Amino acid sequence: MQEAAEFVLWDGQRAIADHQRFFLALSGGTTPRALYETLAKDEWSSRLDWKAVTFVFGDERCVPPDHPESNFGMAQAALFHPLGIPAAQVVRMRGEDPEPERAARDYEEQLRSECPIAGQWPKLDLVLLGLGQDGHIVSLFPGTPALGEQRRWVVPNRAPTGVRSRLTLTLGVINRASVVLFLVTGSAKASVVRAVLEPRTGEERTLPAARVRPENGRVVWLLDGAASAELTISKQHPTSREE
Ligand code: 6PG
Repeated sequence: MQEAAEFVLWDGQRAIADHQRFFLALSGGTTPRALYETLAKDEWSSRLDWKAVTFVFGDERCVPPDHPESNFGMAQAALFHPLGIPAAQVVRMRGEDPEPERAARDYEEQLRSECPIAGQWPKLDLVLLGLGQDGHIVSLFPGTPALGEQRRWVVPNRAPTGVRSRLTLTLGVINRASVVLFLVTGSAKASVVRAVLEPRTGEERTLPAARVRPENGRVVWLLDGAASAELTISKQHPTSREE
């Protein structure tokens, strides 16, 4: 997680130097949580002006903020609370709203008032993404209608497992970010990492993660050895050669 923490701090410093604020979209899941815990440690946290950070969410499970499955709750425990981030800097998705459609529209309104806008879309500095074994990112699951959304920034969606009802940013928002950072670890992700980065079929080419192609930005993948094990490119990497 040290490389990921290094990257986030570097990107945050760059954004703050450029436009005085850092608009950072957080993801849920175990891999992002390990990053937040690292960032919250003193040796890392002292390297960024956290007052200049606006935190938004890539997705949320439709549960109250104190529920164990809440992405906000996870970020609150691992990052906001340890760093003393005030609520005013956190744009939270209202997972507790019994009407996810209303919560999605409210979140889009909040983003409109908190984030810079370029054309029809918000301009986020950095979007952090985990990767599901089925190729999902945020709460954009393969074959779900939210993937085809062309106009809205935030929509309700359904997950195939776990908390079914979700709120998620759309690809239109993710693909206008300056940087999208994928964080993927563990052997369980090796085959989907290969499918996304070295697709062999039409289905693999259209996985949600494969549709992340920022128009004027960059995609960065941080993988551990286990997650990258099925990539052919890793075998050509100098550090993985045996000689
Ligand atoms: C969520 C997510 C989701 C997550 C991936 C990877 O709320 O679950 O935002 O997209 O990042 O499923 O999660 P893991 O790191 O736990 O495998």
